[in-house]
Amino acid sequence: MTAWRTRRAGPGDADDVVRIEAAAFGARSWGEQSVRESLDMPLVSVLLAGATDAAPVGLAIWRDLRGEAELLAIGVAPPARRNGAGMALLEAVLYDARRAGATRLYLEVDAGADAARALYARAGFEPVSVRQAYYRDGADAVIMQMAI
Ligand SMILES: CC(C)(COP(=O)(O)OP(=O)(O)OC[C@H]1O[C@@H](n2cnc3c(N)ncnc32)[C@H](O)[C@@H]1OP(=O)(O)O)[C@@H](O)C(=O)NCCC(=O)NCCS
Repeated sequence: MTAWRTRRAGPGDADDVVRIEAAAFGARSWGEQSVRESLDMPLVSVLLAGATDAAPVGLAIWRDLRGEAELLAIGVAPPARRNGAGMALLEAVLYDARRAGATRLYLEVDAGADAARALYARAGFEPVSVRQAYYRDGADAVIMQMAI
């Protein structure tokens, strides 16, 4: 399995962040402007994952809620999936969120996103509630949380 390197994205990574987000989320992309804005938002961190000496292929975006944290997005470009990048990003978010003082991590996931739900379950997240028809296409959202 690839040895993944994760790091916090800076302003010079904006094009990579936009590229990876679009590849990972497709029709569910936030859109280029919102993705670029996430790099400047207070208390929001963008992490990138890539194989050593290669372009990044995955990203995670999380928000520090001062004592708690929220995972806003995690995505890996399709050709790089199922090789550990998603879990490496999640572990990096957990590490950074703990260092920021968070004791709980929340997220919301499309009830039909089987890969993401499997990743979160494997990491130890538990479902808290379901928001019916939460997404524009009518899909339900599952709210999950984990003590960290
Ligand atoms: C969810 C996502 C980030 C996972 O990234 P990834 O790099 O493929 O994940 P990993 O390789 O680290 O997988 C870790 C574990 O998660 C589970 N998992 C990941 N993808 C899975 C799939 N398609 N089916 C079943 N289990 C899966 C497995 O337990 C896996 O471990 P294993 O490969 O040893 O069995 C990726 O599929 C993705 O970008 N999906 C589209 C975006 C999305 O839905 N994001 C979440 C909402 S914000």
